[in-house]
Amino acid sequence: MTEQQGGFELVIDSVSKSFGARHVLRSVGARAQTGQVMVVAGPNGSGKSTLIKLAARIVRPTEGRVLWKLDGRELSTADTRRVVGLVSPDLNFYDELSAIENLRFFARVRGVGTTDSAAKGAIDGTDSAAKGAISSTATKAATRTGSRESAESLLDRFQLAGRGDDLVGAYSSGMKQRLKYAFALMHNPPLLLLDEPTANLDERGIALVRDTIAQAGASKCVVIATNEPEEVRLGDILIQLRA
Ligand SMILES: Nc1ncnc2c1ncn2[C@@H]1O[C@H](COP(=O)(O)OP(=O)(O)O)[C@@H](O)[C@H]1O
Ligand SMILES: [Mg+2]
Repeated sequence: MTEQQGGFELVIDSVSKSFGARHVLRSVGARAQTGQVMVVAGPNGSGKSTLIKLAARIVRPTEGRVLWKLDGRELSTADTRRVVGLVSPDLNFYDELSAIENLRFFARVRGVGTTDSAAKGAIDGTDSAAKGAISSTATKAATRTGSRESAESLLDRFQLAGRGDDLVGAYSSGMKQRLKYAFALMHNPPLLLLDEPTANLDERGIALVRDTIAQAGASKCVVIATNEPEEVRLGDILIQLRA
């Protein structure tokens, strides 16, 4: 596979994962780059969510390696918050904050800031070309998510127009799922990881997610854990796990 200029690449290199005596993944290998969708399919308990967390580098493999490359240069886990956009059933918002407050809070935690000065502070001291490239993406994203209007336009996109000031605790499960997309995409990450992307969604929400995957699939590296045949079909690369 040739490396794209300006491209991100996810490399899953002979990865095994055990929890104690339980072997969940055995020597899984695959790669995907910007412009590709990787699908992880398999029955319940086969390790789909574990593989998504390994790809996010929030879980370490027992054997093998997960690498991220930008223009062929390796990125470190220090870049995690900027590299990864994650939608997962394991992700939770603060119920006692509004949707916009949650987005702003997580923008700050990521260091992509809610103001230009916060963003600049977070990206000071870039020490490699690769990190610089990620940071310039983060700067643009911070400028975009910094204002209330930009947060609202993200909410509009995910069918939450006018609901930004409602407490997340008052959101339905479908609204929370759509808010996860706003959260995952607000910093314009090169890697989008979607665990059960259409969980809790109605037909309209499902159509929105499929559009989002199609759009992100052109400009990002996308990994989806799913058993929905319509989503499996979106994959350029398929990892089929067995129970
Ligand atoms: N943190 C953990 N500690 C112990 N076992 C785990 C942990 N995470 C996942 N597992 C186990 O790994 C297996 C795969 O889980 P998971 O990756 O969630 O599968 P899937 O998403 O395909 O349903 C299950 O048997 C699960 O219980
Ligand atoms: Mg799962």
